Amino acid sequence: MTLKRLSVVLLACLTLTACGGVDPNSPLGQRKAIFKQMLKTGEDLGGMLRGRIAFDGPKFAEGAVKLDALSREPWKHFPQVREEDHTSATSDVWEQQARFQAMTRDLETATGELVIASQVQPYKASNLGPAVQKVEDACSACHKAFRDH
Ligand code: HEC
Repeated sequence: MTLKRLSVVLLACLTLTACGGVDPNSPLGQRKAIFKQMLKTGEDLGGMLRGRIAFDGPKFAEGAVKLDALSREPWKHFPQVREEDHTSATSDVWEQQARFQAMTRDLETATGELVIASQVQPYKASNLGPAVQKVEDACSACHKAFRDH
């Protein structure tokens, strides 16, 4: 890569940070990145069941393990005090911590069950619908309660 090209890339990154206003190393930046990976991983699993992507049993099982691991990660990046800007977490996350934590555990339970269901052989997409639905329900229940859009 030429120096000129490198500086163009660097500049683009700087501008992106400035526009988004979120430092990728901040707690907010880190949890947003994890949530995005969760969305992508979950969409691939849902896509395999809905026929958007060809069903591949071992790949599905691998994705389930990844989603289960990711589901345990965002929560430690919610700091003691809510950020002023750029967060779509409602203040209830901080004011109703017990309820929030219960919903994090609901998700972890659902992804744990998905891992188990996904390992049943012979692999069958038709066995996995309810477990994926339960994960998606856990995502949306928490978003309804604790995200402001
Ligand atoms: C226990 C609550 C909870 C659960 C469960 C949950 N989320 Fe979220 N999610 C949040 C909160 C709160 C935010 C807002 C974070 C912020 O902006 O500070 C969020 C934000 C997001 C975002 C937006 C990230 C961004 O770039 O702003 C995505 C995407 C997302 N979640 C996906 C998921 C998916 C997929 C699942 C399920 C597999 C899930 N979430 C489960 C609470 C939850």
